Amino acid sequence: MPGKIIALLGSPVRGGNTAYLFNKAVKGAEDGGCEVEKVTVPFLNFQPCMEILHCMAHEDCQMQDELTPYYQKFREMDGLIIATPIMTMGIPGKLKSFMDRFQVFYMAKYMRNNSFITPEHRARRKTLFICISGMDLPDNFDGALQTTQAFCEIIDCPYWDGVFQRDMDHVRDIRTRPEVVEAAYEKGKELCRQVRRED
Ligand SMILES: Cc1cc2nc3c(=O)[nH]c(=O)nc-3n(C[C@H](O)[C@H](O)[C@H](O)COP(=O)(O)O)c2cc1C
Repeated sequence: MPGKIIALLGSPVRGGNTAYLFNKAVKGAEDGGCEVEKVTVPFLNFQPCMEILHCMAHEDCQMQDELTPYYQKFREMDGLIIATPIMTMGIPGKLKSFMDRFQVFYMAKYMRNNSFITPEHRARRKTLFICISGMDLPDNFDGALQTTQAFCEIIDCPYWDGVFQRDMDHVRDIRTRPEVVEAAYEKGKELCRQVRRED
């Protein structure tokens, strides 16, 4: 059976540099034999977590919107790709709101001690993180990485590897960095190889 991967794009720029690396990683995963569902998060119609806390005692979120189907899909997936630019030193708002809505998984795992993901499935699940920034600061990725790693633990799809490019204000076109483009493709392919079900 092919592994199922969900790929989240945090940039609203469909022809931008983040999207370019995103598409390379997706192509790598598909060439590796995985099924990939792409989600351009800024165009998904949903509200941020309103702290109703319905999920404290229930397996679902009371808010019903375009994010709702992803709760089930995130239970079933084997791998995750997240590609995003840095905005205001962290994860862009819409992608962060998407992550926050997975409080549903947090409550199951940490409050009720009953994760939606079995230990066997967790052992195979992995996340590839791709992130670019305009500036060239040493701590550019710290906030985004911390948020992403926390999210990966909440959904039991552990952080596996990353592709990072800073200084995009000067680089401008990611295609002038073929080693980064190649890394996105190869890591997408390797992610698929690692999460595939061998049956
Ligand atoms: C609203 C906004 C906030 C940003 N904040 C930061 C920042 O805090 N640090 C940084 O290094 N780059 C920042 N950037 C620059 C982006 O990370 C950079 O331009 C990136 O290449 C955008 O990729 P994209 O065109 O594929 O979306 C910001 C860009 C935008 C639009």
